[in-house]
Amino acid sequence: PAPLRVALLGCGTVGSEVARLLTTSASDLEARIGRPVELAGIAVRRLNRERPGIDPALLTTDAMGLVLRPDVDLVVEVIGGLEPARALILAALGRGAAVVTANKALLAEDGATLFAAAEEAGTDLYFEASVAGAIPIIRPLRESLVGDEITTVMGIVNGTTNFILDRMHNEGAGFSEALAMAQELGYAEADPTADVEGFDAAAKAAILASLAFHTRVRAEDVHREGITDVTRADVATATAMGSVIKLVAICTLTDDPEPRVSVRVHPAMIPGTHPLAAVGGAYNAVFVESRSAGRLMFYGPGAGGGPTASAVMGDLVTVARNRVRGASGPGESSYAARQVAPIGDV
Ligand code: NDP
Ligand code: HSE
Repeated sequence: PAPLRVALLGCGTVGSEVARLLTTSASDLEARIGRPVELAGIAVRRLNRERPGIDPALLTTDAMGLVLRPDVDLVVEVIGGLEPARALILAALGRGAAVVTANKALLAEDGATLFAAAEEAGTDLYFEASVAGAIPIIRPLRESLVGDEITTVMGIVNGTTNFILDRMHNEGAGFSEALAMAQELGYAEADPTADVEGFDAAAKAAILASLAFHTRVRAEDVHREGITDVTRADVATATAMGSVIKLVAICTLTDDPEPRVSVRVHPAMIPGTHPLAAVGGAYNAVFVESRSAGRLMFYGPGAGGGPTASAVMGDLVTVARNRVRGASGPGESSYAARQVAPIGDV
């Protein structure tokens, strides 16, 4: 059968791992999808960067040209940021290609436009990697739990800050030293301010709250505090109290008397006995509470090239299978199905 052709946008921490998996797992992917998957091209910013294992013939700096190629069926966006990622995703959806993205910043800023474009084209927009790295949390909210009434989503959704706080608590590391290590390990965003000031966690919280509560929450609606003011003295005080400091995201829906959503991200003292206290390194953990299911916990690696590529590849196989069957996934027609206002702290 004719191959499905993939345009990979970005070849950094995540993209290089996706490119590697597309090559090394080609026969497994073909068996799982029912058609071969072929890398049509890789868009990057710099052609002269060292990229071990990547075929230089696949590289281009013309990302839009690659997206608009008529033989491209699937587009994987792992550039990050708002532009050109938004224009590229809209162009891909506009010509009916399926899109997989890890871009939480863009989804939390303008998810509504992207979902509308996907719906209009009748194609897929999948984004499992946008929240909590390898942990399946988008699909459970978007599909498995969509028949339930979710009331709370809370947890640790940023690997970089968890890694930094863990190092400060357990190894006496300084903030800057721990941040440099997180950057080295590929956990941090291109601009690590997004991590340490809580913007990345706020974007993820906005995505989670939008899906969980069938409404529209944007990053700017989220109360946000980062970890840059957490000092060694704070860490020592928390330790003396048998607690640890964690950056937590808390999304709640209350129905009394009117539906009201609260979404916030801030450092919190977590008692040593709480399951979140044991979440170390760049791991994440998300609790979901719903009326019928009760309490669920999702836990695993929250950042880094390998874990994130795992989530991207899962989406890629899913959208490829949909394409082979001439179908499309759940869509987001319930997005903003319910207006809950005002959004803010309770
Ligand atoms: P990197 O900064 O490592 O990689 C970005 C890639 O995009 C690079 O290959 C870069 O090219 C390329 N790029 C940048 N600008 C352009 C442009 N204008 N046109 C074409 N290519 C461009 O980022 P990450 O891999 O860490 O992250 C990618 C996405 O995944 C982001 O949305 C991020 O938030 C998300 N994510 C990241 C995780 C992680 O742990 N790192 C985890 C979960 C999600 P060049 O190589 O030439 O510089
Ligand atoms: N910078 C992000 C983090 C990457 O540290 O959690 C994963 O989304």
